[in-house]
Amino acid sequence: MEKLIPKIILDTDPGGDDIFALLWLISLVKQGLAELVAITTAEGNVAAEQTFAAASKILNLGGLNDVEIGRAVAVPHATTDAAHIHGSDGMGNLSQTLPESDRSFETAKYSDQVIIDALLAAPGAITILAIAPFTNLAAAETQHPGILRQAKEIVLMGGAFGCAGNITAHAEFNVAYHPEAAQVVLNSRSDIVMVPLDVTRSLIFTEAMAHTIQQANPESAIAQFIAALCSFMISTALTYRETQGDRGFLIHDAATVGYLFYPETFLWRRATVQIETQGLWTRGQTLIDNRQVAKAGANAWIATQVDAPNFFMGLIEDLKYL
Ligand code: BDR
Ligand code: CA
Repeated sequence: MEKLIPKIILDTDPGGDDIFALLWLISLVKQGLAELVAITTAEGNVAAEQTFAAASKILNLGGLNDVEIGRAVAVPHATTDAAHIHGSDGMGNLSQTLPESDRSFETAKYSDQVIIDALLAAPGAITILAIAPFTNLAAAETQHPGILRQAKEIVLMGGAFGCAGNITAHAEFNVAYHPEAAQVVLNSRSDIVMVPLDVTRSLIFTEAMAHTIQQANPESAIAQFIAALCSFMISTALTYRETQGDRGFLIHDAATVGYLFYPETFLWRRATVQIETQGLWTRGQTLIDNRQVAKAGANAWIATQVDAPNFFMGLIEDLKYL
């Protein structure tokens, strides 16, 4: 029987946790378990030029220079970024420690066009892991209505259902940055997969984990970078009390990769999800319509629990492979 290797587009705004998700994917590609079709960078944690530069440097570090990288579609309104968590370069202020890449931001294709072209070339075959504000996906759907239905699956890191938000009291960052875009994506099909903050808040990556990876490959530049990025992310997580004082940081975005390759580590519920796009205090809030008992009209699967020890076992073993 032919083994099906997942073909993936990663839509990302690096971002420390985005970089861990990307490194995990690079490891899976190197193990012959995944195909990275493209990276589509987005605005979010930092500005478009920085997310493009960070993705370029990480792909270069991982030796995947032939993978296309798209540049972010502009968000139509001003918002607050998360450079205070991820560093002004989105990579823990470590960009100068990595070799330059040859890619040009100015001449790169826009991310929405990369998504459209890839989905038209391989309808039904590509999984999109979206770990940034959903501007690129929404722009692709607006430009080419129905295009997101051509993805095999769309997996979002986003939303906060039964817990407080992380950028406002009620909203999670990826949704709050561009709520209208999140609504377009949720309207695009009936099987959007969402891993929300409620679950990713239990995924704390620790210094000890970085140390285990480094011990497996003491000379590896990637392992050294992982340890340095982990230290930076822990310092800002402690400053902003993201982990209630635990010495670790929340590796939110890696949850999407964990779901795809270790699906047994998650539990799910079916739901009708809507996005608050108007509220003065609640803009970007994700809401479940619990009246829909029969689940008619549901648009999403929402992760409700993660088996963190097994999730981290998969992540650490794969990162050791790099
Ligand atoms: C999300 O917000 C960003 O800061 C992270 O990279 C992640 O995608 C978590 O709310
Ligand atoms: Ca992100």
